[in-house]
Amino acid sequence: MTSETFSPGLDGVIATDTKISLLDTDVEMIIVRGYDLIELAQNLNYTDVAYLVIYGRLPTEAQGREFCETLAEQAEIPDELYRLFELMPKSTVAMDALRTGISFLAGFEDPDLLNDNSHEANLKKGLKLLAQVPALAVNSYRALNDMPFVRPDQSLGYMENFMYMLRGEKPDAVSLDAFDRIHMCYIEHEMPNSTFAARVIASTLADMYGAMVGAVASLKGRLHGGANEAAIEFLLDILKEGGPPRAEAYVMEKLEARARIMGFGHRVYMKKYDPRAKFLMEYIPRLADRVPDGEELASIYNTVEQVMFREKALYPNTDFPIGLLYYELGIPIPLYTPIFLASRTAGNVAHVLEQHDDNRLFRPRVIYSGARDLHPPDKAISPG
Ligand code: SDX
Repeated sequence: MTSETFSPGLDGVIATDTKISLLDTDVEMIIVRGYDLIELAQNLNYTDVAYLVIYGRLPTEAQGREFCETLAEQAEIPDELYRLFELMPKSTVAMDALRTGISFLAGFEDPDLLNDNSHEANLKKGLKLLAQVPALAVNSYRALNDMPFVRPDQSLGYMENFMYMLRGEKPDAVSLDAFDRIHMCYIEHEMPNSTFAARVIASTLADMYGAMVGAVASLKGRLHGGANEAAIEFLLDILKEGGPPRAEAYVMEKLEARARIMGFGHRVYMKKYDPRAKFLMEYIPRLADRVPDGEELASIYNTVEQVMFREKALYPNTDFPIGLLYYELGIPIPLYTPIFLASRTAGNVAHVLEQHDDNRLFRPRVIYSGARDLHPPDKAISPG
């Protein structure tokens, strides 16, 4: 066995050698396939970056067109999925509905393809999942809330179709631009818990669908992707309790009670600014006029950020601005983390491809601090 070091939460542990992305905190840059993610988010669109993440290079115009056509052709989900969503208890959490939908999809996959972990087979499955995750996320939520399904419009672009299904109408240009840039910021982020979950599962040679289901289960957690929903709920609580004049005292009370303020802190960034948060916060004032309480929420946002830095030397991570931005875009709060997952599907597909292309089973060891040298009685205790 190599070095027997123990790091709680695998803090600082290198889990794999990857060509997909790195959080280079020395230069405060998220490197994705050699590019600065923020520069990509400023200049390109989600499907360009999804192509880059999955194939390892930016598409030519023809490749980009073909990629988008493939995603559009495969955007619709089997009719049985709509029936499944209607059968779900209305108390089902949106992320659980999405997780179940992805799991159910596996049964509709060609059995030979399902269990074929070759690069070509994984690429086919990965593109299908990327194409279908918007319809899964939106229409499972619609079913849980007795809203009519909005099936994909395959004549629309990937992100335009996503917003069309969300809203039931085509988005305006400003909303679509903001939604696309937010989506690019979520696309890939080195080795977060959910990506690691996908790779751990794939490393047993389990299939792409199983790896994705594990990633959804992980991302739901409030310490991870679930923080974007908790972050907006925190701001709305302050709004309810008195608005901007109440913000500082409210945060101080929470900190004195040793509460976690969701949307702040990060295992890797620690005392540094998440480059995605710094980029996206610029959009908050631009969209504030789209909701009645936008100006107040933007003011509360700024106060919370100032107090968290002053009291805990903590900066926002990407979930803090995105929670408010999705609210300004009129997205229902329970859909925030499913939308995060939809974006990260491109990154997770790339990681499962990389894992299966050069696999080694993840199997860590433990420090055992339990009892030893105990012996059972010489006959069974229970009736069996
Ligand atoms: C995402 O990994 C990724 O890259 C994830 C992600 C991605 O793109 O995939 O970036 C997306 O998940 C962002 C993170 C979203 N989660 C939250 O916003 C939840 C709130 N954040 C924290 O719970 C925490 O910062 C974590 C979970 C993100 C990181 O936790 P760590 O590295 O285990 O740090 P820690 O819990 O040991 O905290 C260190 C100190 C503690 O102080 P002490 O108890 O030692 O005095 O910082 C404090 C913590 O109390 N602290 C916070 C805090 N985060 C850390 N205090 C108040 N509020 C917080 N949010």
